[in-house]
Amino acid sequence: MGKPKICITGSGGLIGSHIARLLRDTMGDRVEIIGVTRHVLDLSVESEVRRWFEKAAPAAVIHCAGITSNPACEADPAMARLLNIDCCRWVFESVPDAWVCHFSTDLVFNGLKGNYREDDPVSPVGIYAETKAEAELIAAVHPHSCIVRTSLNGGVSPTGDRGFNEKLRQAWAAGQSMTLFTDEYRCPLAAEWTAKAVAALLKGRKSGVYHVAGGEKLSRYETAECVAQRWPGLNPQLKRGSIADYDGPPRSPDCSMDCSRITKVLGQPVPGLRQYLDDSPSIVF
Ligand SMILES: NC(=O)c1ccc[n+]([C@@H]2O[C@H](COP(=O)([O-])OP(=O)(O)OC[C@H]3O[C@@H](n4cnc5c(N)ncnc54)[C@H](OP(=O)(O)O)[C@@H]3O)[C@@H](O)[C@H]2O)c1
Repeated sequence: MGKPKICITGSGGLIGSHIARLLRDTMGDRVEIIGVTRHVLDLSVESEVRRWFEKAAPAAVIHCAGITSNPACEADPAMARLLNIDCCRWVFESVPDAWVCHFSTDLVFNGLKGNYREDDPVSPVGIYAETKAEAELIAAVHPHSCIVRTSLNGGVSPTGDRGFNEKLRQAWAAGQSMTLFTDEYRCPLAAEWTAKAVAALLKGRKSGVYHVAGGEKLSRYETAECVAQRWPGLNPQLKRGSIADYDGPPRSPDCSMDCSRITKVLGQPVPGLRQYLDDSPSIVF
C-alpha cells in the first residue's frame, strides 16, 4: 500500500503553494503531497473532477482553488459560481471519507461590525463574497470538514502576482501611484502563517469554522505602508483615499476577525503584518 495522499487544489496559487511546500517539508516522508494545479486537473469540468478525486482517494483535501479576485467574479458571475460553488460540491462529494479543509474569506461579512467571531451570521457583499458564503454551506455538510476563513494574504506566489504585496510592488515598479483607503480594515497576514494554521488543523483533524488572520487590524493604507517600507528603491507613491468617495461596487469597511479559536490550536496568535515583517527582516515580501 502506498503512502496516504493529501491533495491541494490551487497549489499553483499563493496560499496553496505555501501549504504544499510546508507539508512536503514537514510530512513528505510519510504522506504523498499532490499539488492539483490547473495542469493536473481543470476543476471546471464536473466529470473530470469527480473521476480524478474518486481515483486518487486522498486521506485529505485542502481546497484552495477558485476565482479569487473580486473584479474577476463581477466580470463573470457564472464562472465564479461554477468554480467557487459547484466545484466545491463535486470535490467534497467525491471524497466522503477524507478530511477536507475548505478556504473561505473574511469577506463573508459585510464589515459593518468588525472583530467577527466564527458564529456571527454571514452577510456577504458582492459576487465573490456571495459565492464564498454559499460554498461554506456545501463544505459544512461534509462529515469531516474544516472551514478556514482567512484575510488578506501576502507572500511570494509562483506566478509573482497573487499576494497583495506583489500587486503593490508591480504597480510601483510600473511607476503607478496607488490610492488606498484609510477607512477599510482587514487583518493582513503572511501566507506562511496561513499554511502553519492549516498544518495544525490537519494534524488535529479539526472540524468546524476557524478564523485565520493577522493579529493586527490595519487599513488598506497602513497595509500598503508596511510593504512600501520594504521597497524604498521603487519610490512607492501612496495616496490616502476613503471608501466614502469610491464609486465602484459596495465594499465591506471592517472585516477584522476574532482569531482566538485558531490561536488555541496553534498555541500562539498569528502575528500581525507589522510584527511579521519586523521579525523577518530578510524575507522577500
Ligand atoms: N489571498 C487572499 O488574500 C485571500 C483572502 C481571503 C480568502 N482567500 C481564499 O483562499 C483561497 C486561496 O486563495 P489564493 O490567494 O491562494 O488564490 P490564487 O493565488 O488566486 O490561487 C487560486 C488557484 O486556483 C486555480 N484555479 C482557478 N481556476 C481553476 C480551474 N478551472 N482549474 C484548476 N485550478 C484553477 C488558479 O489557477 P491559475 O493560476 O492557473 O488561474 C490558482 O492557482 C481561495 O479560496 C480564496 O478565496 C484568499
